[in-house]
Amino acid sequence: MTTELVIVRPDDWHLHLRDKDFLPITVNESARSFARAIIMPNLVPPITKLVDVKNYKQRILSALKPDLSFDPLMTLYLTEETDPKEVKDGFVSGQISAVKLYPAGATTNSQSGVRNFEKIKPILEIMAEIKCPLCIHGEVTDNNIDIFDREKAFIDNVLTKIRNDNPALKVIMEHITTKDAVDYVLSENENLAATVTTHHLSINRNDLLAGGIKPHFYCLPVVKREPHRLALVEAVVSGSPKFFLGTDSAPHLDQDKESFCGCAGCFTAVNTLEILAHIFEEQKALDKLELFTSINGAKFYGKNINSDKIRIVKKDKPTSFPEKLSTPRGEITVFKPNFETKWQVLV
Ligand code: NCD
Ligand code: ZN
Repeated sequence: MTTELVIVRPDDWHLHLRDKDFLPITVNESARSFARAIIMPNLVPPITKLVDVKNYKQRILSALKPDLSFDPLMTLYLTEETDPKEVKDGFVSGQISAVKLYPAGATTNSQSGVRNFEKIKPILEIMAEIKCPLCIHGEVTDNNIDIFDREKAFIDNVLTKIRNDNPALKVIMEHITTKDAVDYVLSENENLAATVTTHHLSINRNDLLAGGIKPHFYCLPVVKREPHRLALVEAVVSGSPKFFLGTDSAPHLDQDKESFCGCAGCFTAVNTLEILAHIFEEQKALDKLELFTSINGAKFYGKNINSDKIRIVKKDKPTSFPEKLSTPRGEITVFKPNFETKWQVLV
């Protein structure tokens, strides 16, 4: 039985660090295990300009403890007004590693996102030319479409067209949640990949809704039926280069989640690798964990593979994690699936 893993230090290809009071916690929690992360730009106001990118990156690095290292890979928030030159300059100079597309209204702070996809065509053409990856929140926002069907509808009605118009555009379908998305990503060329989150691999919609609503399991895209979760697990343990870890760790204050209109997002940065080791072990696929956490994403983004390693060991007893972390504005609950893991990252 394997009780120790030594793997290339992981990266997180989808992370919300938030800002200000949150940064001393979020930055250092991620930096404990991850070398780099794609930093989501959905702040209030969103990161839409290179000057915002520069300042936000500075705030992130200022919050990093001196004994840790962490490379925040910055992104621009795409709006219908984004200047293509800004994207080109940002990517070519290395200030940004990707652009994030939110359909307007799809999720937290997405109101400035895209309503009319025709308007962003010129930007997508330039991005294809310079090979700048586009990270997509893949859900339609039409209120007539059931929330559990919004990912599939996005593939059928929006993503297929974007990709047909731009087969050379590098696209990451973020935080996929359905077998439909897995099948679509597998059926398309090497310019399409997907991130998968810790929570979508761990819980299904019964965990969210049966026996009482669990606000800390509520995220977007919302978790689906068990067969969809199983399709995600199968995809990530297959070792396919098209799937890599994007935790989508998205902390909100408890008071904002445990509310009459609770915010979407699970805070998974604290225990992601321990949870993943448990899932991969259950699938007898521990040998594929490193591909998912540390190799596939770097290759897709055209980045180097990290040179240092981390150790994850299996103990006799379940690993304990803090239930909540405190910020000056209140507490944030750490994601806790309905199973325990005996794995622990050694730092
Ligand atoms: C994210 C957030 O809170 O910023 N929430 C979530 O449920 N995943 C936004 C997102 O990635 O959809
Ligand atoms: Zn996200």
